[in-house]
Amino acid sequence: MAKKIGILTGGGDCPGLNPAIRGAVMRGADFGFEFLGIQEGWRGLVEGNAEPLKVSDVFEIVGKGGTVLGTSRTNPFKKDGAVQKCLDTFKKLKLDALIACGGEDTLGVASKLFKEHKVPVVGVPKTMDNDLSATDYTFGFDTATTIAVDALERLRDTGRSHRRVMVLEVMGRHAGWVALFTAIAGAADWVCLPEEPVDVKAMCENVKKAHAKRKTALVVTSEAVTIPGEAVGKEALDDFGHMLLRKRGVGDRIAGIIESETKLETRAAVIGHIQRGGAPTLFDRILGTRVGAKAAELVQEGKFGQMVALRGNDAVGVSLEEATAKLKIVTPEWLKLAKTFFK
Ligand code: F6P
Repeated sequence: MAKKIGILTGGGDCPGLNPAIRGAVMRGADFGFEFLGIQEGWRGLVEGNAEPLKVSDVFEIVGKGGTVLGTSRTNPFKKDGAVQKCLDTFKKLKLDALIACGGEDTLGVASKLFKEHKVPVVGVPKTMDNDLSATDYTFGFDTATTIAVDALERLRDTGRSHRRVMVLEVMGRHAGWVALFTAIAGAADWVCLPEEPVDVKAMCENVKKAHAKRKTALVVTSEAVTIPGEAVGKEALDDFGHMLLRKRGVGDRIAGIIESETKLETRAAVIGHIQRGGAPTLFDRILGTRVGAKAAELVQEGKFGQMVALRGNDAVGVSLEEATAKLKIVTPEWLKLAKTFFK
């Protein structure tokens, strides 16, 4: 009898999820797998919401943004009785294995389901934040950062026309990879990251110098930075216990500081969820496809409790538990490289 495999996408969506789903379903077809698409992340497993997913359903989705399965930030380990409901659904749907595509939170749930309840699960890493430590890159990051670089270049045009300083706020909750790569690739004059408090004095000095030379100055900030001297208020949390950062208005506050310290007219722009939509780049299409296909291979080999990782140019299986143990944050070496270009 054909093996029945459930597949779900959890956490924030990002470009590359559809290529990954397609990769898993089409490679799985080589092994005779039948797929069930679990709808809206772990919520679908809790509620038993699943639909058949055939090769014909996924054939053309390689270039599409979002996820055809829907997603949510539901964490069954935070809701009474929800883990048991997941186990019941797994049984009821007669699943042989589960492929979970997600970031640290979704894969953390997958890891616990494997460890504590022996659910045969394989993980596929996704996140535009690129902060999973076990893999060199996650799909979603390349597309999101390409969009942010485009936004920064647009801000340069309007900033220079008005002789203004422009601040671009990008996503990146715990790790500043999106802000860092945007700053380097888009020739910014400063970057503020969650990894270190904002150095207001150095930032404003460089902004003034840059503006004098180039009639504008560009600052990229991650949504989650710490501004020295600012009290952190109580903020709303999502289901995984993360702060809902979009309400913080960090970009605006940094713009205010720059304007008052440098006396240069300053504006801020937030691209927010625009970074998460749209067609995946070539890199994300190929990476998503490869890790999705590899996940089906791991299922075929019975290598459960593993996540697919990109190591150098190879897609390999690594332990899910280790992969979700710690986040990959920006290193001092990367920051040093970025600062080389603030001239
Ligand atoms: O998926 C990670 C992330 O993109 C973070 O960078 C950001 O803080 C968060 O998602 C926003 O999530 P939501 O879609 O729930 O507003």
